[in-house]
Amino acid sequence: MISVVIVGTGNVAKHLFDAFIQSEKVLVNQVIGRNKSQLKYFEKNTKTSSNFEKAYPSDILILAVSDDVIGELSEYFRKSNALVVHTSGSALKETLSSQRKGVFYPLQTFTEGQKIDFETIPICIEAEDNSDLELLEELASSISGQVFKISSEQRKSLHIAAVYVNNFTNYMYQIGKEICEENNVPFEILMPLIRETSNKIERISPKEAQTGPARRNDRKTLHAQLSLLKKNEHREIYKIMTNTIKAAYGKEL
Ligand SMILES: NC(=O)c1ccc[n+]([C@@H]2O[C@H](COP(=O)([O-])OP(=O)(O)OC[C@H]3O[C@@H](n4cnc5c(N)ncnc54)[C@H](OP(=O)(O)O)[C@@H]3O)[C@@H](O)[C@H]2O)c1
Repeated sequence: MISVVIVGTGNVAKHLFDAFIQSEKVLVNQVIGRNKSQLKYFEKNTKTSSNFEKAYPSDILILAVSDDVIGELSEYFRKSNALVVHTSGSALKETLSSQRKGVFYPLQTFTEGQKIDFETIPICIEAEDNSDLELLEELASSISGQVFKISSEQRKSLHIAAVYVNNFTNYMYQIGKEICEENNVPFEILMPLIRETSNKIERISPKEAQTGPARRNDRKTLHAQLSLLKKNEHREIYKIMTNTIKAAYGKEL
């Protein structure tokens, strides 16, 4: 059985905790966080504490905290014998000041209160030596069927790719919703289109899947749509996206 201490009480801490307590191979010894009301979430199933200086001895200590404080909080565990890992897509392993360092990055978007099945979530792991990497592999495999050994460079690139496919795409949904609301059309009408857009790239490449007036270079439609947009920021994004798509398919027109 692998013993774990989780530091942090936010989204990732809660989702990891929920997954670990379902596994017979993992024992969550303790959750440490500065926010006492958030610690209540964990109280029924493990010990909790606000004292970062007194972590229970464990095999692995998971820092599921904001990127900016990973280094600062890892100072508390400088002398710990545990393997200390963070869960960030972008922070370097070297941000940690512990003796044994690693990364345990679950590549998914976590939102408060939205249950997630960990079995299908890719977990990207990294450590400094093979025995620590094996330990992380065992921990990751206890909750997920998708475990990847990924270097820091690869992880940073993956994180940027994830920003495009998740954060930016989600912002496009927000713009779509605003445009619907401005015109008294329910946003829900777009749901089947949103689902099909993401489903079809499991069958064909994004390049093949692209449709729309920019790909066709349908000038009249492009001008008409641009003139209908009320907000300057919507127009700017429309122009950048249109020009980029036109450039990508230009040779084929
Ligand atoms: N959310 C995602 O979708 C996602 C996905 C993959 C990886 N990650 C990574 O996972 C990590 C945690 O993200 P999250 O989404 O769980 O963030 P979050 O919900 O905002 O939680 C952040 C945690 O860090 C704690 N914290 C922040 N500053 C602190 C300080 N100075 N001292 C002590 N504790 C402090 C917060 O405590 P308070 O509540 O007291 O502020 C909270 O418990 C990040 O490295 C993030 O990049 C996130």
